[in-house]
Amino acid sequence: MNNIDAKTHVRGQSIYLDDIPVIQGTLYAACFDSPMAHGVIKQLDISIAEQSKGVIKVITYKNIMGENQIGGIIPDEPLLAEHHVHFCGMPIALVIAETDEDARAAVKKIKVDIDPLPIITDARAAAAKGELIVPPRKFKLGDTTKAWNECAYIFEGTTETNGQEHLYIETQGAYAVPQENNSIKIYSSTQGPTAVQKTVSKVTGLAMHQIEIDVTRLGGGFGGKEDQANTWAALCAVAAHILKRPVKYALHRMEDMRMTGKRHPYSSDFRIGLNKDLKIMAYEATFYQNAGAAADLSSAVLERTLFHCTNSYYIPNVTATAYSCRTNLPPNTAFRGFGGPQGMFVIEAAIAKAADKLGIDKTVIQQKNLLQTDNELPYGQKLVSEAHECWNKADELYNIDKIKNDVENFNKKNNLYKKGMALMPICFGISFTNTMMNHARSLVHVYSDGSVNISTGAVEMGQGVNTKILQVAAQIFSINPNKIKINTTNTFRIANTSPSAASATADLNGKATLIACTEILNRLKQLTAEELKVDVTSIQLKNEKIIVDGKETELDWQKLVMLAFTKRVSLSEHAHYATPEIYFDKTKEKGHPFAYHVYGTAIITTTIDCLRGTYEVDSVKVVHDFGSSINKAIDLGQIEGGIVQGIGWMTMEEIIYDKDGKLRSNALSTYKVPDIYSVPKEMIIHFLHTDKDNLAIFKSKAVGEPPLMYGIGAYFALCDAIKAFNPSADIKFDAPMTPEKVLLNLYKKNSIAVSGVPIAHQV
Ligand code: MTE
Ligand code: HPA
Ligand code: MOS
Repeated sequence: MNNIDAKTHVRGQSIYLDDIPVIQGTLYAACFDSPMAHGVIKQLDISIAEQSKGVIKVITYKNIMGENQIGGIIPDEPLLAEHHVHFCGMPIALVIAETDEDARAAVKKIKVDIDPLPIITDARAAAAKGELIVPPRKFKLGDTTKAWNECAYIFEGTTETNGQEHLYIETQGAYAVPQENNSIKIYSSTQGPTAVQKTVSKVTGLAMHQIEIDVTRLGGGFGGKEDQANTWAALCAVAAHILKRPVKYALHRMEDMRMTGKRHPYSSDFRIGLNKDLKIMAYEATFYQNAGAAADLSSAVLERTLFHCTNSYYIPNVTATAYSCRTNLPPNTAFRGFGGPQGMFVIEAAIAKAADKLGIDKTVIQQKNLLQTDNELPYGQKLVSEAHECWNKADELYNIDKIKNDVENFNKKNNLYKKGMALMPICFGISFTNTMMNHARSLVHVYSDGSVNISTGAVEMGQGVNTKILQVAAQIFSINPNKIKINTTNTFRIANTSPSAASATADLNGKATLIACTEILNRLKQLTAEELKVDVTSIQLKNEKIIVDGKETELDWQKLVMLAFTKRVSLSEHAHYATPEIYFDKTKEKGHPFAYHVYGTAIITTTIDCLRGTYEVDSVKVVHDFGSSINKAIDLGQIEGGIVQGIGWMTMEEIIYDKDGKLRSNALSTYKVPDIYSVPKEMIIHFLHTDKDNLAIFKSKAVGEPPLMYGIGAYFALCDAIKAFNPSADIKFDAPMTPEKVLLNLYKKNSIAVSGVPIAHQV
């Protein structure tokens, strides 16, 4: 089935926040944000801005009627700065004016005098000063201290992964419209309508039942709107509540880039030990997460780094420690993979280092250590593994040795172009790591004409979740999909939702929909049994026909629905689903946090231009574990998009804050994202169909985040190509591998002696 949004998207008719027709009297907001990364506000002068053309009011923290607090997990983030600023881009004041242009012109007339305080932009520096957002976390399996003695080879090193700008095509924004009796309706570009509702409740002092959040769809979220959409909705709500007029704020791209947090950069240390057979016996990792100036979702992201620190490998002895470090950058936040990719990069780097020093192929170590069913992960969960299936199928389909030979042959014949290849297996856990969040509800109405309207907590952001939910209902009722409409996501219809995140949206909301539809279906079958005087077990609804004992009756879907209506049988249902089986004990750091895992293997090849340092990704060949996909077109889109986004993070997107904490890569001219030319020349995705029981909706495994991590392979394929040109290059694990870094590495002299002797020792 096609994505139900396909037609309106290509015709430009799909509605995003900025397309909502504004009501007469609507005012426009714009933010004055901190020009300094850390300091004490001595004086804020809004007087000239207040007199500026079209300005209705300039709002500061003093005007906030409720609490000036938007921290979701930890209350450490004011909506508007009071006496301190903690990052460049921190909102200080909000100008409300008759037009967008007037508001932004007035912002420029605000003056602030800030006494500077020391600025920290680096995670390790923050950790050294004890600037931690939450106490450190440690996951342990086996006993690494003992295990080092069993290792024939031990290697250690450090890695860096940079942040990543979400670059959703639709920027952040909100539109708050006052309703009668002090209620407010807010249109928000958010992944988490309930989070927005709660935040608005806090800052306005209104109860949640007075706050309606409505979301039609997002032009992308990628995690950036899981929590960080709250700010703009809260600002608009505060203004609308004070002025009793509708207030809209749709951020410009540079405002968005400057004021919002991104993927967390990580600095990490690793130590890996292997036995003579190249089995990884021990792994120690320490992660320093650059959280930015406030907690936001950092502690949850940190947790997922630990969950995924061994990626797709079984390692019997693991000690992984993680620090969330407070710096003077915008609060970093969720981004596709949610800390998982950062953890996986480190184990891949550790394996690369071991392979390099042992003079063997990285793939040999990778393959030897792939997870098997019933292996125990560092957090105690024993898993059902498809890791070998994916790897082996990739070998069977694409012939790993042949690709390797082709790369070698090319490199023998070419001096100025070199190819490299890498394999990237993945294993990603599906469920919110916070067990409490794994629930959803669905409200299904069947109208008397047989058409169906469904509301859930799912937010459509391009990932196709609405189509999948529609498919669930169409399948349960066995009716034409064009009889079904998915409603906007609205807190007055569906309450207390988790954000659309963790790749679990279709599973959670789809299952709630399945339960609701099944309930209505059972009522309809019961009614049929009574009406036709047949046994209920003999009844089937198929293609809008009512079948009894395999024979068509004169009843059809439409007639049966009408009959139910006249017989006063309820045609509506509100159902709740909570993922069974999952739990996690944080005091022990053990449990069964994930409903299931998603696997896959990618083979990535790259070519570098050894004169220029530029490169191309030649091909990405994947075997991905989809379970039993219910929508291959959508799932393929998710894989392709995820891969390109992952390659972007690993190879070209370079966030640069200067030492003063100012974002230098603050526009699309200075921040390079993958474009059509940087998309791999070839992407082949094989759907590994697995039919084992799992908790996915119709066994169709979640697909949103996992493919991003295939992009990590591009980093190592580039390293491989560099080595083909400069075999002695001691390449730092410092992502992204930009063309500049490629070039420097190509001509770097062997620096092993300078940087210290690698600690490989034979026992
Ligand atoms: N795909 C598109 N087109 N746009 C998005 O914003 N977000 C990603 C992924 N794929 C995103 C996307 C992220 S971060 C997540 S968690 C999942 O989709 C969320 O949706 P799902 O739970 O329905 O997979
Ligand atoms: N994934 C994504 N988003 C989240 C999670 C998670 O595990 N936990 C809280 N928000
Ligand atoms: Mo996705 S990072 O869980 O929104």
